[in-house]
Amino acid sequence: MGNTIEGKVAFVSGGSRGIGAAIALRLAAEGADVALTFQQNKTHADDIVERIHHTGRRAIAVQADSADPDALVDALTRTVAELGRLDILVNNAAVFQTGLIEQVSPDDFEQMVAVNVRGPFVAAQAAVRHMTTGGRIITIGSNMTERVPFPGFSLYALSKTALIGLTTALGRELGPRAITVNLVNPGPTNTDMNPSDGPMAETINGFTALGHYADPADVAAAVAYLAGPDGRYVTGATLNVDGGFTA
Ligand SMILES: NC(=O)c1ccc[n+]([C@@H]2O[C@H](COP(=O)([O-])OP(=O)(O)OC[C@H]3O[C@@H](n4cnc5c(N)ncnc54)[C@H](OP(=O)(O)O)[C@@H]3O)[C@@H](O)[C@H]2O)c1
Repeated sequence: MGNTIEGKVAFVSGGSRGIGAAIALRLAAEGADVALTFQQNKTHADDIVERIHHTGRRAIAVQADSADPDALVDALTRTVAELGRLDILVNNAAVFQTGLIEQVSPDDFEQMVAVNVRGPFVAAQAAVRHMTTGGRIITIGSNMTERVPFPGFSLYALSKTALIGLTTALGRELGPRAITVNLVNPGPTNTDMNPSDGPMAETINGFTALGHYADPADVAAAVAYLAGPDGRYVTGATLNVDGGFTA
């Protein structure tokens, strides 16, 4: 690792735990100052900010529910006000809820789509107002867009599949401004959302080619590649980081 994005400013939604925290730490290790959002857990968010400060980078944590468009836009505005610019948007925050189709309520639908779909759209809309040449928009989807091995995932898979359309269309639209737009689709990754010692973990391990869960750092490494100079010719793309789950 080494300072490939020195002087850049990154915004990571849901950067207080799990994959988002690993992304925030990795981008800071690569030289970026980082703003991260959280929904409820300020203690975890402050911990990640402190760890970034120890690396010599600037960092702020902002409470912003991704279901609330105004809160997201305010968080991005505050990022530019406090850290001076915005170069990298990582749409990571998402909610995960399972249920057979007869069990999904209209409120469940609204909440999932508000956080997982409208959130990335609104954040991208706000971010491009601040980004200049070389900007990066990276969204965290899910490999459930390609393979769903259990019942009960229709709403989650629907929400993540919408991000493919957002990525390809926005990649086309922002190409002339030299802003790249990409989607990273993790497979099973050891976080609070999907612990590698959970009740279905052994079965899920068997769905992968590599036979085990990812560490959040594995997903962060893909994000760092897309965020850095080596990723400059990749846009509108979806990158699976799923241990061969969809192979
Ligand atoms: N883990 C997996 O196996 C897996 C697989 C495929 C895709 N993914 C995707 O990877 C991303 C990260 O997942 P994860 O496993 O790291 O999740 P996680 O462990 O549940 O962490 C979620 C993070 O997002 C924040 N968050 C949750 N709801 C939010 C909201 N409404 N507004 C703002 N922030 C919110 C949380 O903040 P608080 O701490 O305040 O709650 C936390 O920082 C998600 O997009 C998820 O769909 C995960």
